[in-house]
Amino acid sequence: MLTSALRALVGNARGSIRQLHRSAPAASDQLFVHRDSDANNPDTPFEFTADNLKRADAIISIYPEGHQRAAVIPLLDLAQRQHGWLPISAMHAVAKMLDMPNMRVYEVATFYTMFNRNPVGKFHVQLCGTTPCWLCGSDDIMAAIQKKLGIKNGETSKDGMFTLTEVECLGACVNAPMVQINDHYYEDLTVKDIEGILDDLKAGREPAAGPRSGRFACEPSGGLTSLTKEPYGPGFGVRSDL
Ligand code: FES
Repeated sequence: MLTSALRALVGNARGSIRQLHRSAPAASDQLFVHRDSDANNPDTPFEFTADNLKRADAIISIYPEGHQRAAVIPLLDLAQRQHGWLPISAMHAVAKMLDMPNMRVYEVATFYTMFNRNPVGKFHVQLCGTTPCWLCGSDDIMAAIQKKLGIKNGETSKDGMFTLTEVECLGACVNAPMVQINDHYYEDLTVKDIEGILDDLKAGREPAAGPRSGRFACEPSGGLTSLTKEPYGPGFGVRSDL
């Protein structure tokens, strides 16, 4: 802050005081910036298991000679599946395996939010809060999850079972509102549905993935409005003597 004497000095030198503007500080930098912590630093133990080493070799062999670096995403995914999340030491292991600079791997791992660069619980509950889901009640689903698990957005439950993260569109807008828990989508949710899903997970049961509204997938919930006729079978319109 300028003192009044300094203001006078600057004012005299320039004729007037220039207004300074800056954008509001970002609330969090956790999406992009790595800071060494006890749990996540270059010495965090990470080594691919023998099985995963074989898988990694198989993945790398898919890519043509000279383009092995294209395997960086599947290898990071493999590392995350093995470790539960993706420490910086695992990124270094992948970089070494693909003969890439570490920075190139950081660029990928920080771009895709599917890579969890901090520890997450056994079940990572990702709630979509983008417009279609929000219009269909994602706020209520968020409140229900927070109440049920006793955690807020971005937190992990004390028993290490659940992490809650609000995310952007997960591509299932037609089945809004929805959550992704680990690899599964749970869609067309009501508050009762999400409470039941979390109860099942807590009890060690496997809740059925997919829409909870009775829909098979993302067909119109009020019945078909187009393509209502039986689809033509194979051979339709073809001469019978052929
Ligand atoms: S807006 Fe929620 S999945 Fe697209």
